[in-house]
Amino acid sequence: MNEKRDFDKAALSWDEEPRRVKLAGNVAAVIIDTIHPDRTMDVLDFGCGTGLITLLLQPQVKSIVGVDSSRGMLDVLEQKVRERGLANVGTLFCDFERGDRPAGRFHLIVSSMTLHHVPDLQALFRLFCDLLQPGGVLGIADLDAEDGSFHDDPTGVHHHGFDREMITSLLSKAGFVECSDKTADVIVKGSVPDTREYPVFLITARKPSWPPPK
Ligand SMILES: C[S@@+](CC[C@H](N)C(=O)[O-])C[C@H]1O[C@@H](n2cnc3c(N)ncnc32)[C@H](O)[C@@H]1O
Repeated sequence: MNEKRDFDKAALSWDEEPRRVKLAGNVAAVIIDTIHPDRTMDVLDFGCGTGLITLLLQPQVKSIVGVDSSRGMLDVLEQKVRERGLANVGTLFCDFERGDRPAGRFHLIVSSMTLHHVPDLQALFRLFCDLLQPGGVLGIADLDAEDGSFHDDPTGVHHHGFDREMITSLLSKAGFVECSDKTADVIVKGSVPDTREYPVFLITARKPSWPPPK
């Protein structure tokens, strides 16, 4: 359970699973609709994987850096960036659990389907708050609380989804304000009549501007 999943091994075939591509498309669309990223923004995608979400946000923003602790995932993203000749996409190999942290400050941090692989969410949310510009926005998508049936292989899964209020409370403790949540997608697994539904939330929050508004 505490072992890390080997995402390097999964990287080359990651995008071949239609469910993942569909989910990333729906999450990116809800991020765009809710947060309205624009061409003034420097963005960080934490746990970017092969960049499914990174590359959907790329045309909307000034720059976006995909951060991941899997070299294999980043290799796939880098190849896409080269093939498309994109000048505003960067990648960064970084595992914050080992004390790594990206340099710079961002207007927006997004993360999709990565939180459940991170044991210490409070430390991660503090890091996110630190990495954001004052007034910067966070958008995190992950599974609602589930019974452990979502992952066929539980290696590296530290949380069976999340209670949205628990996430909001951790975000507030980390210094975020204006937390709000919505359902970004519903993943359907299994085949009829044994289908199961796994809702995915998008929680957004803002780092307060400084000085705080009176
Ligand atoms: C389930 S994948 C999601 C990938 C991508 N966001 C998507 O929607 O397709 C989770 C990703 O988080 C990365 N990851 C897990 N723990 C991490 C950590 N501590 N620091 C950085 N990346 C991490 C993994 O390497 C993997 O690429």
